Formats: sequence, C-alpha cells, structure tokens
Amino acid sequence: MSANPVVDPSTQTVSPAAVYPGALDPTHAAPVLPTGFEAQADELVSHYPVSKRSASLPLLHLWQETFGYISPEGIEWIAARLGLQPINILELVTFYPMFRQHPAGKIQIKVCRTLSCAMAGSYALCDHLREKCGVGEPDAHGLALSPDGKYSVEFVECIASCGTAPVIMIDDDFHENVTLPRADELLRQYS
Ligand code: FES
Repeated sequence: MSANPVVDPSTQTVSPAAVYPGALDPTHAAPVLPTGFEAQADELVSHYPVSKRSASLPLLHLWQETFGYISPEGIEWIAARLGLQPINILELVTFYPMFRQHPAGKIQIKVCRTLSCAMAGSYALCDHLREKCGVGEPDAHGLALSPDGKYSVEFVECIASCGTAPVIMIDDDFHENVTLPRADELLRQYS
C-alpha cells in the first residue's frame, strides 16, 4: 500500500481502496481529511521510528480532535497508516474512556464526578441534566446523547476547580457551584 493514500490533494479525498483494504462496501464514502491532517499524522508517526504502533494513541487523539469522535473509518485509516489490523486500534478505543465512538451533541455538557464534586452533588446534578436534556442511556464511554443530537451529557474527571464544586463545562465554558436551579438557567441560556 502507498505510504500516502491521498489521491486528490485539492480536496484531500482518500480513495476507499487505499484506506479500507478489504472494505466490505467499496462505495462507502471515504473520510475527507482536512488540509494538513496527513502532515500532522506523519509528524506524529515520525516520533516513533522504532515502532510505528506506538503512534496509535497520538493518531487517535488527532482523529478525535479533528472529527469529534473515532468513527469506524478512523479506526480503519489509522490501522492502515500504521500497518496494523483495525482490531489493534479498536481495542485501544474501547479500552481508553477518553475516546468516543459516537459524535457528541452540538451542546456538550461535562459534569465533574471526582471527589469534591461528587460530595457536592454532581451525580444528582448529572441525573438532572440528563433528564432535562432528554438524553438516553450513556454508551460504553459514558456519553449520553439526545435523540436529536442537540445535547450530550457525560461525566469527566477533576477539572481543577474543586473549591467551587460542583463544576460543569458547557462547550468551552466553565460553570461553578452549579445547583439544580442554576443548571436549569444554564440550559435555557444554551438552548
Ligand atoms: S473534583 Fe470537581 S473540579 Fe476537582
């Protein structure tokens, strides 16, 4: 297989045949890689000249930062890039809780569940947010998504504001001392 499967540099479209060797569905759309993605991937792989396999986690982080989650296509692409089997990548995705296999909501809510926040009621707060946002059961990675994809709610570990627990993040915004009424207010602001 070519070391560089990009066949159309203007669109960065990757041919399915190059990315998905043995793909069951040859008409399946290949991921469109943003400009510079492959160069970033190459740079990360170059840090591991002895064993490309060691670049698996860095490439997974790059994929998730770029696409928001690790799709089956991402697993195939990374495996092909590193000369591994997709199962080698999938087992990392399922083992490490920081990787998502589904897209998060358009509005992403993260609730700290570490000790200070847990003692200040973050579990009840998370239940409340899940109910208000109408999200379903969390998936294997703890992400609960509303049916319309608008909200996702998930637990995270300490986000470094233990003195103002419970703490949540909505998208990139940080909110402290979040009571249930305050959570309702925030949801109205972000709806
Ligand atoms: S325990 Fe929640 S911010 Fe540290």
